[in-house]
Amino acid sequence: MTQYAKVIGTGGYLPEEIRTNEHISEKVDTSDTWIFERTGIKSRRIAAKHETTSSMAEVAARQAIEMAGIAADDIDLIIVATGTPENVYPGTGCVLQHRLGIKKGVAFDIQAACSGSIFGLDIANNYIKSGAAKTVLVVGTEINSRITDWTDRGTCILFGDGAGAVLLQASDEQGILSTHIHSDGQYEDLLNCPNPQAMGDADGVGYISMKGNEVFKVAVNTLGRIVDETLAANNMQKSDIDWLVPHQANIRIIAATAKKLKMSMDHVVVTVEEQGNTSSASVLLAFNEAVRDGRIQRGQTVLLEAFGAGFTWGSALIRY
Ligand code: UT7
Repeated sequence: MTQYAKVIGTGGYLPEEIRTNEHISEKVDTSDTWIFERTGIKSRRIAAKHETTSSMAEVAARQAIEMAGIAADDIDLIIVATGTPENVYPGTGCVLQHRLGIKKGVAFDIQAACSGSIFGLDIANNYIKSGAAKTVLVVGTEINSRITDWTDRGTCILFGDGAGAVLLQASDEQGILSTHIHSDGQYEDLLNCPNPQAMGDADGVGYISMKGNEVFKVAVNTLGRIVDETLAANNMQKSDIDWLVPHQANIRIIAATAKKLKMSMDHVVVTVEEQGNTSSASVLLAFNEAVRDGRIQRGQTVLLEAFGAGFTWGSALIRY
């Protein structure tokens, strides 16, 4: 019998500090009106000094474990997606495994920038379908505020911190219907964050650098194509999708994908206004929010998608 990766729990964590557009406008030449009109963002969360990617991941993971009603020890694979790990090594996955008190199974990190959570879902799905794992925790966790140049108005208005988690378990009941992931490394100069120390510059600091306008155009076109690819692979029509849970980079990119699906914004989960772009955490944070507030119901069909540096992009179609 087909084994599906069924969603059994979700979780999320947002740091306490709220940084509004007004706060940012005090430091760089921008305004609340410009930021909101161009991006849909009003505020974002900023991690406190004592917080780390793994401490935030732990809170999100524990919520998912509690919702699923399993023991942490039942998890046999942990996948952490992050572009802001607290160490070069050990991986944040291993640190999280220890924080959760899990002594068996395997944990590792993936780096796919803002598409990290979708890449994580793809790996989890394939491990479960092949029988290599039974219960898989996927976490996206980011402290973008520490790799943001707060004097660069082209990027500092966009990003935020947070962690999202989903627990998947092998089941005869439907779960992930398909995943689709892609990358194209030729666009490094459009969106990147260097690691100066690894490049031999011991005193250097690496910040996010982006040609926003060009990234925007590629993102809209690429996400349009991933919608077509996902529907075709599942022999579905646009009207078969109940919810769109997009990566939260910019409301205009989200609206373009909704339009492609001929979907009203009432069926799109939007968190960008109060969270900004939390990279690999954004899709799982949005999914968690809509599951917990009851918008996403069991049996519904949910399309998750993301686009990020690399470029990387992908989708996951889930029967919740
Ligand atoms: O998650 C990973 C993928 N990342 C994304 O998907 C981000 C994609 N890009 C974007 O979201 C948008 O490109 C931005 C929000 C970053 C920028 O919006 P835009 O509509 O593409 O603006 P633009 O870069 O074309 O700039 C238009 C104008 C420029 O001024 P001039 O040359 O027309 O005089 C910029 O200098 O807006 C200016 N500008 C700003 N003005 C006020 C750029 N940033 C700001 C700002 N406040 N923060």
